[in-house]
Amino acid sequence: MRVLITGAAGFLGSHLVDRFLADGWEVVGVDNFVTGARENLAHLANEARFSLMEHDVTEPFDVEGRLDGILHFASPASPVDYLELPIETLKVGGQGTHNVLEIARRHGARFLLASTSEVYGDPKFHPQPENYWGNVNPIGPRGVYDEAKRYAEALTMAYRRTYGLDVGIARIFNTYGPRVRPGDGRVVSNFIVQSLRDEALTVYGTGAQTRSFCYVTDQIDGLCRLFGASCVGPVNIGNPNEFTILELAQLVVEETGNSLPVSYLPLPPDDPIVRCPDISMARLKLGWTPKINLRMGLRKTIPYFRGLMEAGRDVRSRTLPITGNTGGLPA
Ligand SMILES: NC(=O)c1ccc[n+]([C@@H]2O[C@H](COP(=O)([O-])OP(=O)(O)OC[C@H]3O[C@@H](n4cnc5c(N)ncnc54)[C@H](O)[C@@H]3O)[C@@H](O)[C@H]2O)c1
Repeated sequence: MRVLITGAAGFLGSHLVDRFLADGWEVVGVDNFVTGARENLAHLANEARFSLMEHDVTEPFDVEGRLDGILHFASPASPVDYLELPIETLKVGGQGTHNVLEIARRHGARFLLASTSEVYGDPKFHPQPENYWGNVNPIGPRGVYDEAKRYAEALTMAYRRTYGLDVGIARIFNTYGPRVRPGDGRVVSNFIVQSLRDEALTVYGTGAQTRSFCYVTDQIDGLCRLFGASCVGPVNIGNPNEFTILELAQLVVEETGNSLPVSYLPLPPDDPIVRCPDISMARLKLGWTPKINLRMGLRKTIPYFRGLMEAGRDVRSRTLPITGNTGGLPA
């Protein structure tokens, strides 16, 4: 069995590559390294069942030989990245998804889309079930990511309705673990890096906003179950334990053993106030439930960043530019 994984050099993509290889598959990865890292795949240099294409998926391409499945994970994913790459983010969600769906159609392969909890926007319904349509500002800065993923979902469903393509849609909630890029600006990596560097932890707003954090092995297990099931979804894959950002900060400093200076920045436009998955569908249809709680996950993640620093890597946090909260309209 042979699978194509787009975004293979990224955080989730590289863990998916490892999992499929471990399960006995041949894997073709594709990535243009816009936010990915070669080191994430370096351990596979001598793996005969893995090959990598360096390619931008917004340009048409094909894969020689059979393909049984495709997991479409290429896209900038952290707010700092997609706010710096707005057009690229829209293009990979739009044209990129179109190109990859065409490959799935040509090969008769199952297609799994990496969608996101961001399709729910700043939710007015809590926790978020899959039948909630969301509250997204299409013209705000975050709209480039949220709308790209909403369009990608619509396109995926159109391929199913028009061509009968075998598709699945995963709505992924915040996931963390080793191989998150240290400077990609996500809250877990930022807090860990800042704490290890004895820097103040950057909190946007009051820190009372909530998020739900899923450890990477749980996420990969949920995604593989969805890929292997004849289930369209969308299906929420995330950890339903909800934490305020300040609670996360407290846990990180407890686990790194450092003290807790916090520096506050204004809340970015359209930042969700709450975020928590209703995972009833994943439990029912996939028999999936996350196993790793946040403290356990941090204990597995902190040594990764500590190791990078000890190896002399340039490990820094990255924060959002301060623009004033205008909701995307001119101030
Ligand atoms: N990690 C999360 O918490 C999370 C949450 C929701 C959704 N997702 C989705 O999962 C997927 C992977 O996210 P991640 O956290 O691993 O991010 P990541 O930035 O680590 O990985 C994305 C990968 O896609 C590649 N890529 C981007 N545009 C490309 C293009 N045009 N052509 C080829 N490759 C391209 C990047 O170089 C990178 O290797 C994304 O689609 C993201 O939207 C992730």
